[in-house]
Amino acid sequence: MKKPTPNEIGQGYDAFTDLLDQLWGENLHHGYWEDASDDVSVKDAADRLTDKLAGLLTIEPGDRLLDLGCGIGEPAIRLATAHKIEIVGVSISGRQVERAHDRAVSAGLADRLSFQLADAMDLPFPEESFDIVWALESLHHMPDRAHVLRQATRVLRPGGRVAIGDFMLQPSADGYEAGAARVNEASKGVLSVIGRDAYLAMIREAGLVPVASEDVSRHTRPSWVKAGERFAALREQAVPHIGEEQFDLTLARFRAFSEEPALGYALLTARKPS
Ligand SMILES: C[S@@+](CC[C@H](N)C(=O)[O-])C[C@H]1O[C@@H](n2cnc3c(N)ncnc32)[C@H](O)[C@@H]1O
Repeated sequence: MKKPTPNEIGQGYDAFTDLLDQLWGENLHHGYWEDASDDVSVKDAADRLTDKLAGLLTIEPGDRLLDLGCGIGEPAIRLATAHKIEIVGVSISGRQVERAHDRAVSAGLADRLSFQLADAMDLPFPEESFDIVWALESLHHMPDRAHVLRQATRVLRPGGRVAIGDFMLQPSADGYEAGAARVNEASKGVLSVIGRDAYLAMIREAGLVPVASEDVSRHTRPSWVKAGERFAALREQAVPHIGEEQFDLTLARFRAFSEEPALGYALLTARKPS
């Protein structure tokens, strides 16, 4: 199935950024719930996922972090609030970049946070210019994860770190390939997944050394259920933007993903050799 191009992904986010606020809030990534009795809000659960990923990294004061696929800047604002670091965020959506900038100004962080429109497939930064590359739920959109990881290695200084939150293929009863095909089909190519071993091999091939890998599928899975419920409640606002057919397809997708055993989620970190 043909994956949407970065421009198509950007246009989609440009069109839906305000609707996404109503659906999920400022974080455009999954939440982390401890167990079935955990009733924290979507906002708190999503912040928790940001914190879990950050907790797998060493972050030093003065570090320069590149946020690949920064959304409207919420994870960057949270990271910059918790740590005295500088962050450059890139997104393929111009509307997100504008909003991320305005939100950084409102948070009083514009001296350390900046955002720009750029394609992570072709990063406009010099070699060895960052201490950390951070990609929270953005690599799955990109046409070639391996290429983006090589770009990340290029812009990292020796000893620099990478933090990734991404969908990850899980073994299912009918095998890896059948699971991957179902996910690909249900998402119409928007969400491609690979298994853990393939992911770690890709990280190594990009010139990085895997450090941590945590399967958080069980904790993030409620996100699909909640997104489906919330999306269903937004029918009146959403249909004028995306039409009835697209609305029903998207809702069906959330429901299919919430029941898809092959669709997992992992947090990964790696480092560039010194
Ligand atoms: C699911 S959102 C996650 C946003 C953010 N990381 C967060 O957690 O709130 C995916 C992000 O990846 C960005 N993205 C997708 N493809 C991209 C590309 N080729 N280059 C740069 N950003 C891209 C989107 O514009 C969007 O900001």
